[in-house]
Amino acid sequence: PKSLQLPMLLFSFARLYPFYSYNFVTQKYKLLVLTVATEETDGFHRFMQTAHYFNYTVKVLGMGEPWKGGDVGRSIGGGQKVRLLKSTMEILADQEDLVILFVDSYDLIFAGGPEEILRKFLQANHKVVFAADGLIWPDKRLTDKYPSVRSGKRFLNSGGIIGYAPYINRIVSQWNLHDNDDDQLFYTKIYLDPSQRETLNMSLDHKCQIFQNLNGAVDEVLLKFGTDRVRVRNTMYDSLPVVVHGNGNTKIYLNYLGNYVPNAWNYEHGCGHCDDDFLDLSQLQEYPNVLVGVFIEQPTPFLPEFFQRLLALDYPKDKLKLFVHNNVSHIQRFWEENRNVFNSFKVVGPEENLSQGEARNMGMDLCRKDASCDYYFSIDSDVMLTNRQTVKLLIEQNRKIIGPLVARHSKLWSNFWGALSLDGYYARSEDYVDIVQRKRVGVWNIPFMAHVYLIKGSVLRNELKERNYFVLEKLDPDMALCRNAREMGVFMYLTNRHDFGRLISTASYNISHYNNDLWQIFENPVDWKEKYIHQNYTQIFTENYLEEPCPDVFWFPVFSEKACDEIVEEMEHYGSWSGGKHEDTRIAGGYETVPTDDIHMKQIGFDKEWLHFIREFISPVTLKVFSGYYTKAYAVMNFVVKYTPGRQAYLRPHHDSSTFTINIALNNKNADFLGGGCRFHRYNCSIESPRKGWSFMHPGRLTHLHEGLPTTNGTRYIAVSFIDP
Ligand SMILES: *[C@@H]1O[C@H](CO)[C@@H](O)[C@H](O)[C@H]1NC(C)=O
Ligand SMILES: *[C@@H]1O[C@H](CO)[C@@H](O)[C@H](O)[C@H]1NC(C)=O
Ligand SMILES: *[C@@H]1O[C@H](CO)[C@@H](O)[C@H](O)[C@H]1NC(C)=O
Ligand SMILES: *[C@@H]1O[C@H](CO)[C@@H](O)[C@H](O)[C@H]1NC(C)=O
Ligand SMILES: *[C@@H]1O[C@H](CO)[C@@H](O)[C@H](O)[C@H]1NC(C)=O
Ligand SMILES: *[C@@H]1O[C@H](CO)[C@@H](O)[C@H](O)[C@H]1NC(C)=O
Ligand SMILES: *[C@@H]1O[C@H](CO)[C@@H](O)[C@H](O)[C@H]1NC(C)=O
Ligand SMILES: *[C@@H]1O[C@H](CO)[C@@H](O)[C@H](O)[C@H]1NC(C)=O
Repeated sequence: PKSLQLPMLLFSFARLYPFYSYNFVTQKYKLLVLTVATEETDGFHRFMQTAHYFNYTVKVLGMGEPWKGGDVGRSIGGGQKVRLLKSTMEILADQEDLVILFVDSYDLIFAGGPEEILRKFLQANHKVVFAADGLIWPDKRLTDKYPSVRSGKRFLNSGGIIGYAPYINRIVSQWNLHDNDDDQLFYTKIYLDPSQRETLNMSLDHKCQIFQNLNGAVDEVLLKFGTDRVRVRNTMYDSLPVVVHGNGNTKIYLNYLGNYVPNAWNYEHGCGHCDDDFLDLSQLQEYPNVLVGVFIEQPTPFLPEFFQRLLALDYPKDKLKLFVHNNVSHIQRFWEENRNVFNSFKVVGPEENLSQGEARNMGMDLCRKDASCDYYFSIDSDVMLTNRQTVKLLIEQNRKIIGPLVARHSKLWSNFWGALSLDGYYARSEDYVDIVQRKRVGVWNIPFMAHVYLIKGSVLRNELKERNYFVLEKLDPDMALCRNAREMGVFMYLTNRHDFGRLISTASYNISHYNNDLWQIFENPVDWKEKYIHQNYTQIFTENYLEEPCPDVFWFPVFSEKACDEIVEEMEHYGSWSGGKHEDTRIAGGYETVPTDDIHMKQIGFDKEWLHFIREFISPVTLKVFSGYYTKAYAVMNFVVKYTPGRQAYLRPHHDSSTFTINIALNNKNADFLGGGCRFHRYNCSIESPRKGWSFMHPGRLTHLHEGLPTTNGTRYIAVSFIDP
């Protein structure tokens, strides 16, 4: 028949004039994409997005029908797809100029357009071409029946078929099996029958010109970035496949590729689909209702600050309900102060003896069962949300599940994984570091997230309507949730389009002190600084925010009110003041000529932290005011002094055994004590109104003989270090 000869003729012609003629050829044929999807899963949505981008004509078969084709992910099945294709092909059977591309859709994306696929199909010079696979499935015993191939993939995969309509029809019209019989076995048997193979002129796409199956081939493919488009390149056959199929166990890898291909993200334009489903909150009559689930599963530093940030979220409080699972600390006060701030406020304490998984199920279930709950926002106590817009921004992104990126300060430790290892644990994806460091910005489909995320209430009542998502085998609760979501085909997204905040470290949080956060200077330096360093400290360097009340006595803000209060509390809690005696077993030699009533930092186990504080926050000031002097920030005498009329009220004139000394006022004149201050004899200069949180810095020997002026009422506290003795 003519129609069979024509493409061959044109093909020979095309070899001579490759450029034009393919257009000419491809214009002669129409390409129709057929796919079977019974539900609009996230994967289907993505498939259609890539199909629309390339202007494919797609016809979806079976939408809304119950799926009876079995669990194709794990066992055989898929016959329903052949049945649906068969009935469609009956109508199209005599359209000789129609080329049918029959593909899966839940786990498949397009990387190229219809022109290209037609061109490659015509080049293949067969009536029907199937996708090829390096692995045989479902019947290994058929291996020997396959024609051998010199190079390329040997076995048939039914996730992608392209062919002329009459020929496709001749194949599928042979179907007389059940919906849950195996489609791939059906096609395989036809292909392996030598006479059918010849008369139906079938072939496999051995070298991935058209179809890339990822199963067993993850190592063969790479992303290839172009200016407008991103493709997948098969490095083994040096081909640019058009259809990329995450068959078998490769869904997560396909999700990774789908974050880029074809126009989801590239270096030139960044994110291509970030605002596709944007939900403009400002256009809504009312803000959606959000249930906030807060989980305090282990002792967590900076918990008061965590709650402050929760209260500071820019979201109407009457639209927020709070559920707190607290397995550790006392949040009684926060609850009492804020129980009426939110629409509702429920606390489950340690006395209920809930496991973490049970508590998380309980929180999620509260939203699931409440039809008015539009979103469930889950947040762990180690997430410091510095962005007050976080909840709004996540809602506007309009995904089923989405988390904001949070990472440890200047570390690569974050709340998501870009890939999974074979046993389901962490593996680093090629783009992980760039996403954490926000060098690639967008909304990313990822296999695992934890600590903080937003889930639509409707998803909890549909795809995730079963309960107990957090309890699965021996997995930790977040891994259980993510595995369940993956298995339900619900995509989890992570956005790094904004700076949302950070994760704090709960490791080595020693809770045997009175004010435990003081010890967090190493583990959580950013939060430590925010809590304990004076608000105007950095202005010392930017705006010369410091004073020189006496010659070479510098005066600058260093501690916050909190730092002062907590250090005093810590010392009073310890309570063993030295009494200001000359005999002192704490120091070398055991004798102090000018003793104070004090407690050494070492006595409360705070010396390492204190020296680090000096290195981090005092050394830079030293360098500024005594330019050219690089302190070693070495000090053995670090202590808090207590002056009070009943015990020791003043200190007689003396030199310090230091190169320079710092002296930080820990409380307020007039409010906490009367009198006090410091006098430098050589200059006949006194400072009588010390300021809480401000430090003096002065040379210790030779020039700066000084005395502590009497405290006349109340108690005065100062923190002192003799630096570089
Ligand atoms: C799809 O069609 C539109 C409208 O005709 C066109 O602007 C666009 O460039 C086409 N896309 C591709 C990838 O060819
Ligand atoms: C398939 O058909 C083409 C013509 O369309 C022909 O050139 C080729 O030889 C046929 N292949 C087989 C294996 O029959
Ligand atoms: C708490 O639950 C665990 C495990 O469910 C159980 O072993 C333990 O006895 C319970 N403790 C209390 C105080 O009920
Ligand atoms: C509560 O937290 C402690 C650790 O602080 C943990 O050992 C304990 O198992 C937790 N209790 C429950 C019920 O999970
Ligand atoms: C926690 O702090 C206490 C009191 O300073 C100390 O005795 C203990 O060794 C510390 N524990 C750890 C694990 O550092
Ligand atoms: C910081 O400086 C500003 C003026 O520069 C002042 O208004 C503010 O009170 C200072 N902050 C503190 C904690 O002293
Ligand atoms: C020290 O200064 C005070 C005023 O501040 C002055 O009255 C006194 O005479 C000065 N003493 C000496 C020795 O200069
Ligand atoms: C000291 O302070 C207390 C309370 O603040 C006050 O009652 C007392 O009168 C003060 N004494 C002097 C000598 O100022």
